[in-house]
Amino acid sequence: MSAVDEIKSKLDIVEYIQRTTPLKKTGRVFKACCPFHVEKTPSFVVDPERQSWRCFGACAEGGDLFSFAMKQNGWSFHEAMEELAKLAGVELRPQTPEQRVRDEALERLRGLIKLAAEFYHEHLLDGSDRQAAATLKYTREKRGLSDETLSRFQIGYAPPGWQNLRDLLTGMGYSDDDLVNAGVVSRNEQGNIYDRFRNRLMIPIRDERGRVVGFGARALAAEDNPKYLNSPQSPVFDKSRLLFGLDFAARAIRDTETVVIVEGYLDAIQAQQAGYANVVAQMGTALTETQLKLVAPRMAKKIILALDSDAAGQNATRRSLEVAREALQADYAGRLSVDIRILTVPGAKDPDDLIREAPEQWQALVSEATPVADYVIGMEIEALPPNASVQEREGAARRLLPILIASEDDLYRKDNLQKLAMKLRIAERDLMVWAQEQQQIAKAKAPRAAPSAQPPDFDTLPPEEGYYDLPDFDTPVRSRRAALIPAVSKSRLERYCLRILFERPDLFYHVNRKFRELAGDDTYLSDGPLNELCAEDFTDSAYQALMRTFQEALVQDEMDAMEYLDQQLTAELIDELREILRDDLETMRPALRNGLSADLVVVQKQSERQNGILDIEVELIAKALELRQRHLGRLRQEIIAMFADDQLDWEDMAYYSQIATLTNIAKRLIDDEISRQARRVNA
Ligand code: UTP
Ligand code: MN
Repeated sequence: MSAVDEIKSKLDIVEYIQRTTPLKKTGRVFKACCPFHVEKTPSFVVDPERQSWRCFGACAEGGDLFSFAMKQNGWSFHEAMEELAKLAGVELRPQTPEQRVRDEALERLRGLIKLAAEFYHEHLLDGSDRQAAATLKYTREKRGLSDETLSRFQIGYAPPGWQNLRDLLTGMGYSDDDLVNAGVVSRNEQGNIYDRFRNRLMIPIRDERGRVVGFGARALAAEDNPKYLNSPQSPVFDKSRLLFGLDFAARAIRDTETVVIVEGYLDAIQAQQAGYANVVAQMGTALTETQLKLVAPRMAKKIILALDSDAAGQNATRRSLEVAREALQADYAGRLSVDIRILTVPGAKDPDDLIREAPEQWQALVSEATPVADYVIGMEIEALPPNASVQEREGAARRLLPILIASEDDLYRKDNLQKLAMKLRIAERDLMVWAQEQQQIAKAKAPRAAPSAQPPDFDTLPPEEGYYDLPDFDTPVRSRRAALIPAVSKSRLERYCLRILFERPDLFYHVNRKFRELAGDDTYLSDGPLNELCAEDFTDSAYQALMRTFQEALVQDEMDAMEYLDQQLTAELIDELREILRDDLETMRPALRNGLSADLVVVQKQSERQNGILDIEVELIAKALELRQRHLGRLRQEIIAMFADDQLDWEDMAYYSQIATLTNIAKRLIDDEISRQARRVNA
């Protein structure tokens, strides 16, 4: 996979854009007012399926994740690569010769495995082998697989001998080491080499791109153990990163935004054969975080875990839920909520049995899948003795809360807490307190735990409309959609901040340091409402553009920041900037000869002389905090408007409550800082 593809596979464009631009789901796509120009009606559309964006308004531009990041941040492609790779956790290395050798070796092993799959498949269909014929009969009659399914999944048969595959492949030029590395032969302690899979039904396992990387091999004789022998773990076959059937299921998963994860390979094959195309199988282990991330939230917003009804199935569920909880809490909770549901096949059956007998029932089971919260509540309560003590009930509640916390969808819907409270006969308020305690413990343990997992105290937001309207600066935000409408009169506060920034670019870092300090180690805050001072902190479009260019100038390292600004700013923006700097420039008009950069240098020197360095720094930080406070205020009003508009669906609610929570936290932190500063000034 190229680095670009790898980055794209790890970052969801919706999630990425949502870091800076709240998107609203409208049918299949997401909409927003364009982050690149000022508009009142949303014409900016993000398509999760195509992983693309487009502004249908004034910009009339569009593209992929990379072009968005470049445009938004003013990055070159190279810069975007580096930044997005960092974000995606993809290591960008130039292909070293060693690496090329390694890639080629992997490619060679995959070629070998592909040949093995062909060999097994052909052998199954080879009528001259009696055992192969019996196996074929088994797959058709006992397992109900059609010939089309057999060839689509390339189901095969490994003959009983010890050297069949080895002879074939060494004859084709592969070495024993290749065969061992590909996991198709084994080497025993005496150093003897023999076929790993013998007298087994061979199920090729493909990666998400459809390349065969290994096998799940089912025993055909009752006495053969284990029942399934899988390829050994290796660089080509990494079970923790695979979901069986994903290559075939991907399209349907995207279309339905839903993935159904079953336990067995044959369950997935049967479902696919019946036309339930969004079904994949676990790899015989509890789900891993990496497996989850292959599908959610990039492709699926809903994960349905289909479990065998036996007790082992339930333990596996617990493990999978635990992984899901951790994965979701660590990464997605603050961004997008993933709806996890549990499907239990009734009777002592697995999905394979059920679909073979009554395929139409599957659909009903899928749509009736139990929300994870209900499921775990049910399991926990079932395990309680009929006359459980207070301690036992509290214990159950405490075990449930962490799982419920991860599925914010559920926890914070009042009815869920009520349900738990009622079933356990515990006051709802106590549950909330415990949840918060656990939150704090989790947060202390994992610095990345989402603050958004705290109950959104949206209801308790200060009601006074004017909170953010700072009287000494410009007009209060009047409209509900105020954030989207350029301020009628330009803000003195914005103007002041820009002036200082352009005079003293180094102070930008001091401002950001303050924001970071307030965010602590909470990345949801430092990536969100307490991120760097940014264009969105300004309401005037010219000021936004100036701010954006200012940041670009600092980011680039090809030339001096002033020189860069001089080159990048359009004539209008230069005029705008002159306007902003005018008070100072006015007094120095004679010095203005050599364009903007000369102006700025003069102003800067002048300004340093006039102000004690410390004063100006403290002053800018204070003003920047106010600026951010207003920005958050606009955001808050927008959210209030959305809630008031009553057109939010459930997922939107969850999403916007999270933004509201984060915004509230940031607001409080800024409030505290402002009063600290006030106290310091008064002291
Ligand atoms: P099951 O025992 O439920 O098998 O294991 P199954 O898929 O329903 O197969 P049939 O219907 O009996 O033929 C479920 C999954 O657990 C893994 C495999 O991935 C299997 O599909 N497994 C099971 C193993 O990896 N090894 C084993 O020995 C058993
Ligand atoms: Mn089965």
